[in-house]
Amino acid sequence: MAELDEKYWSERYKSGLTGWDIGFPSTPIVQYLDQIVNKDVEILIPGAGNAYEAYYAFQSGFSNVHVLDISQEPLRNFKDKFPNFPSSNLHHGDFFEHHGSYNLILEQTFFCALNPSLRPKYVKKMSELLLKGGKLVGLLFNKEFNSPGPPFGGGIKEYQKLFHNSFEIDVMEECYNSIPARAGSEAFIRLINSKG
Ligand SMILES: C[S@@+](CC[C@H](N)C(=O)[O-])C[C@H]1O[C@@H](n2cnc3c(N)ncnc32)[C@H](O)[C@@H]1O
Repeated sequence: MAELDEKYWSERYKSGLTGWDIGFPSTPIVQYLDQIVNKDVEILIPGAGNAYEAYYAFQSGFSNVHVLDISQEPLRNFKDKFPNFPSSNLHHGDFFEHHGSYNLILEQTFFCALNPSLRPKYVKKMSELLLKGGKLVGLLFNKEFNSPGPPFGGGIKEYQKLFHNSFEIDVMEECYNSIPARAGSEAFIRLINSKG
């Protein structure tokens, strides 16, 4: 398997091979954000790519939205498109080396982009980045893919085992409001950090 490093992801952006990019903020995340009253919560979107959800949150009044990606390419596009978004909240770097403390982390096709051997490390890092009681919310693929990844798939049973030591599994179920192209293939998660 190719090494899924900065070079790999930047090449994908440069050559336009970005099949994961839906081009708008994902409906389940939008609907989740719309229910949050406290707009001061610290939000992180790791592996955010073109980060449509980040701009949606920012435009909706959330004042502490952070975008993180290992590739400069989408961060540069984001900065050009949305010059009013605070550039100090655009982080170029590796999720596993990122430091911060957040109330909410949004997951949208980042988990599936990582080599599956990194999944336990992903769970540990998410738990470290979240305050105790902080939430990891978003979407995980609830299907296997036929071709070699990324994306790498999985299923709810496997995810329950993976997360249950570090998170209270508040919601982990088939997503009812996926975008049409992903209907029936994703799980919605709302996990509460039990460590911190
Ligand atoms: C499949 S794309 C998803 C992008 C975006 N979330 C979306 O749905 O359009 C995966 C993203 O994760 C980024 N990425 C991969 N490994 C990363 C890492 N270790 N740390 C931070 N970002 C990473 C890639 O550069 C890419 O933008």
